[in-house]
Amino acid sequence: RIGDPERGAEIFGKCASCHEVGQGAKHRVGPHLNGIFDRKVAQFEDYNYSEGIERARRDGMVWNLKNLDAYLENPKTLVSGTRMNFAGLKNKRDRDDVLAYLRQFSAN
Ligand code: HEM
Repeated sequence: RIGDPERGAEIFGKCASCHEVGQGAKHRVGPHLNGIFDRKVAQFEDYNYSEGIERARRDGMVWNLKNLDAYLENPKTLVSGTRMNFAGLKNKRDRDDVLAYLRQFSAN
């Protein structure tokens, strides 16, 4: 496993102002994060994405572990023009743990 999902649940507090995950999760400021692993970026039809992330979708970008890690470290470095205004998780362990938490809500 990539990290500690229980610690990741606490780290997710930094995401929860904008994102929901788990049963009944809805889009808020950001889209809900159920099933995000190995899905193409910006796939929800009922969420209004930025042009920056739409471009990444058209380029075929997939939310694999490597891309999720890079996006969480610095969203605007991976996806120029993304509307996710989040400074990023600079600590690798924090990223591993929050991704282990999110993976619980993905089939893959
Ligand atoms: C998009 C994760 C924090 C606002 C996304 C996406 C992921 C993600 C994976 C892409 C979704 C997709 O392609 O459908 C996270 C995680 C966070 C976090 C794990 C915490 C570590 C935040 C915060 C905010 C935010 C704090 C608000 C200040 C957004 C927005 C988008 C987005 C607005 C859509 C981006 C766009 O349209 O360019 N987030 N996020 N996120 N997130 Fe976050």
